[in-house]
Amino acid sequence: MASRPLVASPPDAFGAAVLAGLAQTPKVVPARYFYDNAGSELFEQITELPEYYPTRTEIGLLGVHAGEIATRVGAGRIVVEFGSGSSVKTPLLLRAVAPAAYVPIDISADFLTESAGTLAADFPGLSVLPLAGDFTRPLRLPAQVAGQPMLGFFPGSTLGNAAPASAVDLLRAFAATLGDDTWLVIGLDLRKDRHVLEAAYDDKAGVTAAFNMNLLARINRELGGTVDASAFRHRARWNGDAGRVEMHLEAQRDLAFEVLGQRFTMTQGETIHTENSYKWTFDEARLLARAGGWTPIAGWIDPAGLFGLHLWRVAPAAGEP
Ligand code: TRP
Repeated sequence: MASRPLVASPPDAFGAAVLAGLAQTPKVVPARYFYDNAGSELFEQITELPEYYPTRTEIGLLGVHAGEIATRVGAGRIVVEFGSGSSVKTPLLLRAVAPAAYVPIDISADFLTESAGTLAADFPGLSVLPLAGDFTRPLRLPAQVAGQPMLGFFPGSTLGNAAPASAVDLLRAFAATLGDDTWLVIGLDLRKDRHVLEAAYDDKAGVTAAFNMNLLARINRELGGTVDASAFRHRARWNGDAGRVEMHLEAQRDLAFEVLGQRFTMTQGETIHTENSYKWTFDEARLLARAGGWTPIAGWIDPAGLFGLHLWRVAPAAGEP
């Protein structure tokens, strides 16, 4: 189980998105299309790379602070995870919180079935209620848990893959889904030295490059593409003005290709922009919480100052003066 797309994608949506994205200047392909089987497998490998610190750092933070989280939120909440669950992170939280039920939400019913099955085996007696749906919009939770006190869980710095305005929308959708007695545990990568950031998205072994290039293989295989993938290279660069690491596929020479019968050209040095990973300082993350309808209650940073784990409580929907 790797990362999951944020948004639904019907079968022919990939073709439509690629045609629309390649017609733009600069060219883009939405990041959600990274995650076919090969892409999900490569993403799993990314999380274990020496340069890719976020996964192991967040796991460390959860290991140290899950007990305090449980004490603060109280026993018996329903844990609702946005994404179908990480085999290491989710058990750390569930063991500490001892929830009344666990609701993983994911757009992919396949991912859900697989991870919910594994988890149910490790937590006998826990009621696991997977929900297939698009969590970027308010969702109706299963009837067995509706209206009960909730604890949302959104690890992996996945919120950082959304542009600021979309991140606020997403946090508001979470609040709408979870109701008015709810907390949220969320992991967000921190802003830091650009060399550390760029290495995390451009590892020596070339796994992140293969992950990015897999998009071209998908285009060729699934959309009748004629892209010469060997003419492209993976690029990861910190954009300090925007506060994000950008991933691109850069053409190393002028080239032309077809996708679904449509012709596209690129000049040497031109890129296809494939992913953003916004990096929020700890204080920026707290402001983001408030903008999205949440109140920051507590937060923790690892000793090396790499990653932030936050505990937020939904802000009361009271009237304003
Ligand atoms: N959200 C994580 C991050 O931004 C994981 C991730 C999403 C990622 N897309 C990626 C990691 C592409 C590497 C490459 O770091």
